[in-house]
Amino acid sequence: MKVQVHMGSRCMLYGAMNILEQLESLEELRLAEPWRFNEEILEIEAVPCSDNCKTDRISPVVIIEGESIHRATSQQIMEKVMSKILLPEE
Ligand code: FES
Repeated sequence: MKVQVHMGSRCMLYGAMNILEQLESLEELRLAEPWRFNEEILEIEAVPCSDNCKTDRISPVVIIEGESIHRATSQQIMEKVMSKILLPEE
């Protein structure tokens, strides 16, 4: 699964760095407790902006497998990602 976090100045101002840090923490958790997760590869990428957020109030922007999420929150992004990689509790 590819997750791209926009890192333009406006998205950074509205919390993109926090989202990126949470995703990186999730990767660390996967390494520490691999039995809790499926085999899906999580590709986290910080991407530069095409300046869309300068004209529209869409920051921060995160793209998950091609789906663009505007005004993303870290909770929203983590829930979406976790729902795809976390194995059900037994
Ligand atoms: S950095 Fe804001 S939309 Fe890309």
